[in-house]
Amino acid sequence: METSSGTLRRLARSAPAICLLLLLGCAENYPQTTLNPRGDFARMVDQLFRTTVWWAAVVFVLVEGALLFAIFKFRGRPDDPEPKQVHGNTMLEVVWTIIPAAILVFIAVPTIKTIFKTSDYATGDVVQIEVLGHQWWWEFRYPGLGVVTANEMHVPVGKTVNLRMTTVDVIHSFWVPQFAAKRDVFPGKHNPLWFKAEVTGTFSGQCAEFCGIQHGRMGFRVISETPEEFAAWVAKQRIGSPLVNAGAVTPDTTTPADSAGRAARQAADTVTRAGLALFSSAGCISCHSMVGTPLAGTTALKGPNLSHVGSRSTIVAGMLENTPENLRKWLSNPDSVKKGTLMVLPHKLTDAEIATLVAYLRAHQ
Ligand code: CUA
Repeated sequence: METSSGTLRRLARSAPAICLLLLLGCAENYPQTTLNPRGDFARMVDQLFRTTVWWAAVVFVLVEGALLFAIFKFRGRPDDPEPKQVHGNTMLEVVWTIIPAAILVFIAVPTIKTIFKTSDYATGDVVQIEVLGHQWWWEFRYPGLGVVTANEMHVPVGKTVNLRMTTVDVIHSFWVPQFAAKRDVFPGKHNPLWFKAEVTGTFSGQCAEFCGIQHGRMGFRVISETPEEFAAWVAKQRIGSPLVNAGAVTPDTTTPADSAGRAARQAADTVTRAGLALFSSAGCISCHSMVGTPLAGTTALKGPNLSHVGSRSTIVAGMLENTPENLRKWLSNPDSVKKGTLMVLPHKLTDAEIATLVAYLRAHQ
C-alpha cells in the first residue's frame, strides 16, 4: 500500500513535465522535424508514415476494443461454474493470420514502390550537385554551374536537385529532414539522393551517422530560393571558383570616378593585400582554397573553400552565426570552439592578425 501510494505521488509530481512533453509534440517550429515535409521526397516518406500509423491505429482500436469487451462481458463471478475448456479454433486462427498478412501487404506495396522511386538518380531537367562529407563539414559542388561551396546548399525552388554523394574520410549521413530521408555516404562510393523543394526558405540539415567527436556539429543549411535569386547566387559564386578558369579572376583595373569611390577602393585593396599576405604566412593557404591565392584553382584541399565565406550565414559547419565576433573567436582558438576540429593553426594568431583576417574574410562576399 505504502509503495503504490508513493508511486502515485511520484507520477503526480511528474505530471506537469509529462504534459509539457506532450504539448511540445504539438509545436510548429522545429527546424529538423520530419513531420512537416517541404519537398516531394520527404512528402512520400511522410505519406508512408501516415499510412502505417493509420493501420496501426485501426489495429489498436479493434484489438483493444475486443479485449475490453471480453474483459467486461465475460468476467468471472464468484458463483460461476468452471468455464468450458477449448483447445484452439481453426477458423479464428486462419482469420487472425490472414488479416495481419493483408495489412502488411497494404503497407509493403507502397513502401517498396517508394524505395525504388527514391533509390536512384533523378533524370530530366535537374540541378546536379556533388556532396562530399568531411570531418566535420559538408562540401557542395555544382559541376554544371561552376560552383564550389561549403555547409550551405542553395537550391532553386520547384526544381529537382540531383545529389551525387560521397565522403573523403569516414562514413557520414546526409539528412535534411524537411526535404528528404537520411542517406549514408561511403568512402570510394557514390550514393544518389534527390528532392524538389516546394517552398522557399532556410532549412536545417545534419550529419546523421556517428562520425567522430564532432558528429553532432556537422550541420548545414539548405537555402531554397526563387530561380532569380538562385541564378544571382550562382553568378556570384562563379567568381574565383576552382571550376571556372581554375579560380582566376580578371582584376578590376578601372578607377572610380568620384573621390569617395576611390577612397573606398583603396581601403578595400589595403584589406585584401594585408589579408592575402597573412592568409599565406599564417598557413591558412595549406588547407583552404581562396580566390586570389595561388591555390584558388584546387578542390583537393582539406578545409572548406573560402572564396565567398563572407556571404554564408554561418561558420564552423552551421555552428556559429557568421559575425565578426564569432569569426574572431573561431580564429583565436578553433579547438576551444569545436573540440577536436581538424583546423589546427600552425601558430597562435595575435589579436592584430585575427583582426586582419576577419576583415579580409568578411570582405569576400
Ligand atoms: Cu559526419 Cu556524423
